[in-house]
Amino acid sequence: EYNLTAQRSTKEFIKGIKTETYGYNGDYLGPVIRVKKGETVSIKLKNLLGETTTVHWHGLELPGDMDGGPHNGIQPNETWNPQFTINQSAATLWFHPHPIHKTGAQVYKGLAGLIYIEDEVSQKLNLPKDYGQNDFPLILQDRRFTKDGRMPYDLGMMDVMHGFQGDTVLINGAVNPFLEVPQGKVRFRILNGSNARIYNLHLTKTSEFWQIASDGGFLEAPVRLNQVDLGPAERAEIIVDFSNFKTGEVIQLQDRDENLMKFIVKDKSTKNVTIPKSITSIPKIEPSSAKTTRKFVFQGMGHMVNINGKQMDPRRIDEELKINTTEIWEISNASTGMMGGGMAHPFHAHGVQFQILERNGKEPPKNERGWKDTILVQPGETVKAIATFKYKGIFMYHCHILEHEDSGMMGQFQVK
Ligand code: C2O
Ligand code: CU
Ligand code: CU
Repeated sequence: EYNLTAQRSTKEFIKGIKTETYGYNGDYLGPVIRVKKGETVSIKLKNLLGETTTVHWHGLELPGDMDGGPHNGIQPNETWNPQFTINQSAATLWFHPHPIHKTGAQVYKGLAGLIYIEDEVSQKLNLPKDYGQNDFPLILQDRRFTKDGRMPYDLGMMDVMHGFQGDTVLINGAVNPFLEVPQGKVRFRILNGSNARIYNLHLTKTSEFWQIASDGGFLEAPVRLNQVDLGPAERAEIIVDFSNFKTGEVIQLQDRDENLMKFIVKDKSTKNVTIPKSITSIPKIEPSSAKTTRKFVFQGMGHMVNINGKQMDPRRIDEELKINTTEIWEISNASTGMMGGGMAHPFHAHGVQFQILERNGKEPPKNERGWKDTILVQPGETVKAIATFKYKGIFMYHCHILEHEDSGMMGQFQVK
């Protein structure tokens, strides 16, 4: 049983200046909700915002009426109490509001939190898993502050086109963030919680880390990388080995050549973790088991962004599916050149986890061979993904650039 209160607050991002924010149970962002596979969860969300909100469980596989999409509006001073059973593997998911046309504004002001699912695999593995010691969440968000410390969500033409981009990156709600890390292996559960920014993450002083999980859970084996791209709403769990650094040494997390965060190496870690050769096995969904292939074309720009030529209409169901069937979804980004701005669009669907079959006809990179609920699709690219739809109800699919979603780059599918 969890209690969340969506509330208005203020936070001192900049010393001595109070900035108006929204938060779940606090001044900005929200708690980590920890659940176990098999557990039945009841969450009470109280809305003290003075405006309609919803709370959506991004990445959870669950019935449509518990999903927290635009249909599940919570009026001011009301409480919503969804209940559902966790029926998927260990993963780092998140939750955020989803009211129609206002998702961007409410997330921007601070409404977002994490969900950790644990299962036998995550509990048995000798991975870093001590919260706040060698297992840290990193929620990346970009914001724009005025001189007097306000964080207004006023959209200019460029913000409508490209999504709202800030000049100040907050990590876990902190400006100029730093983190003391043990001299050993450390796990970071990274969420791109930005409205629109795409990060290209890497570290200074060490060119390698291991990605162990993508959006929907562990990869079959750790993937050695020297950089990782994260589109809005995507997650990556990585392990960084700090054991060869001296106490006091500073390693920077960077996006391209911008410093985002300092890691300051402390004492030797008391935990002895090794990076496993293999983590789990992911049952492959066979393309031959798919009954249908559906096409989704992301196109247009600014207020005209759309999917398959249509903009979101809450009274219209765009796609009808049968429960317990497997489908291939082919997502193309037609926004190339002058007529579409040449932008990447992060595709996301509710209530389901996909496996990527192909990117432009080729096998996806190793770190995308696990479960995915958000897929960054580059201009001109076509991605084929497969999923089995196990829950009934009405769900959304949309671009996770929140300004595109709010402009109507969203549709509804119903599973019957
Ligand atoms: Cu992360 Cu429709 O949402
Ligand atoms: Cu979602
Ligand atoms: Cu988009």
